[in-house]
Amino acid sequence: MTKHVFLIGFMGCGKTYWGSWLAERVSCPFIDLDRRIELHEQKTISDIFREAGESGFRELERRYLHKLKDIAPAVIATGGGAPCFFDNLSRMRSIGIIIYLRTPVEVLFERLKTGKAERPLLKDLNDYVLSGFIRERLETREPFYLQADYILEYAEDHDLFAEKLLDVIRNGH
Ligand code: S3P
Repeated sequence: MTKHVFLIGFMGCGKTYWGSWLAERVSCPFIDLDRRIELHEQKTISDIFREAGESGFRELERRYLHKLKDIAPAVIATGGGAPCFFDNLSRMRSIGIIIYLRTPVEVLFERLKTGKAERPLLKDLNDYVLSGFIRERLETREPFYLQADYILEYAEDHDLFAEKLLDVIRNGH
């Protein structure tokens, strides 16, 4: 690969799973931006939200995203909000290709019901509120996500989705 591959999309869409899968397939490094922030800051994302609020987290997210221009091409899973703040999306575009993992609300809901504890934006929501939150937040975020270079629609079949993802890399990269 000659440039980064950014996976973007809502929480629970599988950016981390597919990012590490893809990186292994194409033999290049995998970076999960949130884990990188946690590692370098020596704090969890929840700690950062608690201490500095969402705005503090967004500043850090932007800073770590900007730093990616100095490293070798990698597959990068971004946090769900990353493309929706500052100039992050155009920054990503200038150093890589962007793939949106577009996932139906129902699928996100099923996954996030069990994965909300470690996500500060979701941890206090009961299931009923969670479903409305996903719907609303996705609506405001999709205009950003849809600016990706490639939009990969969710497929229940793992192998089918894997093939679609590899196609983008083989043909579009
Ligand atoms: C966020 C998504 C999270 C993390 C933070 C905020 C968001 O990442 O960056 O909790 O605003 O959507 P994941 O998309 O990996 O859950």
